[in-house]
Amino acid sequence: MCGIVAYIGPRQASPFLINGLKLLEYRGYDSAGIAVLNGDLKVFKRKGKVAELEAFIEGQDHSSTVGLGHTRWATHGEPTDINAHPHRSGNGRLVMVHNGIIENYGSLKTALQKEGHVFESQTDTEVLVHLIEEIQDHGNLPLEEAVRLALDRVVGAYAIVLMDREHPDKLVAARKASPLVIGVGDDEYFLASDAAPLAGHTKRIIYMNDEEIAVVHRNGDLQIKNIHNKVQTPFIQEFDMQVEELEKGGYEHFMLKEIHQQPQTLADCMRGRLSLEAPYVKLGGVDEYEKTISNAKRFIIAACGTSWHAGLIGEYLFEDLARIPVEVEYASELRYRNPIIQEGDVVIALSQSGETADTLAALELAKDKGAMLYGVVNAVGSSIARLTDAGSYIHAGPEIGVASTKAFTGQVALLTMMAISLGYKRGRIPNSYFHKLISELHNIPAKIERALRCEEQIKYIAKEIKDRQNALYLGRGFNFPVALEGALKLKEISYIHAEGYPAAEMKHGPIALIDEEMPVIVIATNRSAYDKVVSNIQEVKARKGMVIAVVTEGEKTISEMADYTIEIPDTEEPLTPLLSVIPLQLLSYHIAVMRGCNVDQPRNLAKSVTVE
Ligand code: F6R
Repeated sequence: MCGIVAYIGPRQASPFLINGLKLLEYRGYDSAGIAVLNGDLKVFKRKGKVAELEAFIEGQDHSSTVGLGHTRWATHGEPTDINAHPHRSGNGRLVMVHNGIIENYGSLKTALQKEGHVFESQTDTEVLVHLIEEIQDHGNLPLEEAVRLALDRVVGAYAIVLMDREHPDKLVAARKASPLVIGVGDDEYFLASDAAPLAGHTKRIIYMNDEEIAVVHRNGDLQIKNIHNKVQTPFIQEFDMQVEELEKGGYEHFMLKEIHQQPQTLADCMRGRLSLEAPYVKLGGVDEYEKTISNAKRFIIAACGTSWHAGLIGEYLFEDLARIPVEVEYASELRYRNPIIQEGDVVIALSQSGETADTLAALELAKDKGAMLYGVVNAVGSSIARLTDAGSYIHAGPEIGVASTKAFTGQVALLTMMAISLGYKRGRIPNSYFHKLISELHNIPAKIERALRCEEQIKYIAKEIKDRQNALYLGRGFNFPVALEGALKLKEISYIHAEGYPAAEMKHGPIALIDEEMPVIVIATNRSAYDKVVSNIQEVKARKGMVIAVVTEGEKTISEMADYTIEIPDTEEPLTPLLSVIPLQLLSYHIAVMRGCNVDQPRNLAKSVTVE
């Protein structure tokens, strides 16, 4: 939540700052601002999107070769011009941008007010920059030392960048539990919350670690210390992100591009990992943990939101194919109860961003209890990728639409490969079925391509339900988590209330809601429990509900009963979610577009939830 950018070097800073903020806008879009230093510190900030900030600064003098910027997702204080970042210190000498939450800001603020500090905004950030100023002034200290001493008094999470009017040739940055990367150029540095703004500028990147404080200088110098004042050696890595990956590529929205990318992203996820010959599945990134994983007595999957839905599918897969017990936990719940986690357990964290605060905290807890940590992550170099003992990237490429689509199918594909591999190693899958699953996984990208062909029909159905207030999604077995995911997609981008249920649970309550106003989307591709799903559909029709059924190509019985049927290609049952979710993604997308919603940046949401 919140995006940070900064630049120092020979070029003009503001084009990088504005472009970078646009690329980070998915992290928060309540307000935006930049600060530049050219003799004096100038701050430009606005409530609203980065485009509004861009229009605001046009015609004003923002020339400078050093600057920082911020796009905000409000935590303390509503989105207003004043609460927008950057924030100034009381004496006007420092400006700072911040991503995270300072939990003890109340007590710090009271103490500073006693010293005569006056605050303009309601933000925790302004308190921190005043604290740094107080320490800097009091001891006549270099900025980085004042930052270090101030952060030592802070409880909470932060990624910060500061500029000092008296030292135009350096920027100071620090992080704890909120991401921050440093792009290393030729005598220039780019700082950002993630790697996206660096694409096209440099291929060298440093992922800052928790409690590190970095000073980047215009002459190319870089020093990193930790909060205990110990010098750290910067670890520069190569990164390779193309600018085109960050563009809409002719699609109207990132979400639509990302839905249509799935044949490719799944092929990328499986490339080099899956073959028709031994070793069949090779995930890499496992190294010395191969045995621990193969012999695990239990898996615990921790995740949030859409990733949690992928985790539920993982539970069904691991239990069905490998006969290993699995528990799927909301990371936010896991971290605050007293869970039984033991040595020998493998905790799998699923996360697109790799930065979700709850998932990170759940992992820390599991680590303390002796579990092995495995990350299934999309964002390369992210905090979860670095915290886990081993793991696999899903290789979906940058997901920019706030509603997750291609990351979901990537996570499911990865878990499917893991489950198949474990089942084979443990002798739980008959040979012939194992080979069938492997070759069918190879067919999945082409089958997704075919599933995407329903888009015109989906638009027609979307028109029929776009003005409804509610929707119910039903599925059984592997399709139950898909029903949950379909409902989440609809509510988060179209603001229609939607719920997902196991189809058979309908009669235990939700059936009371069904009347002619209620669209019921039934994922009815199951081979097992087919008759049961047919009965569930009859129960909805008997109560005049509108049934939209997702069925297997050529299906007849349900097609005759349902108001609309959407066909997807047939596949092995454990692989169904990779196909059945496709029409649901498209349906929510087109409904949201027809309702005039901001599909890529739905209200109140942010892509990367780095606060609790
Ligand atoms: C929904 C969505 C969220 C995320 C959740 C976890 O479309 O995107 O529910 O799935 O915030 O995020 P990650 O996967 O980044 O940990």
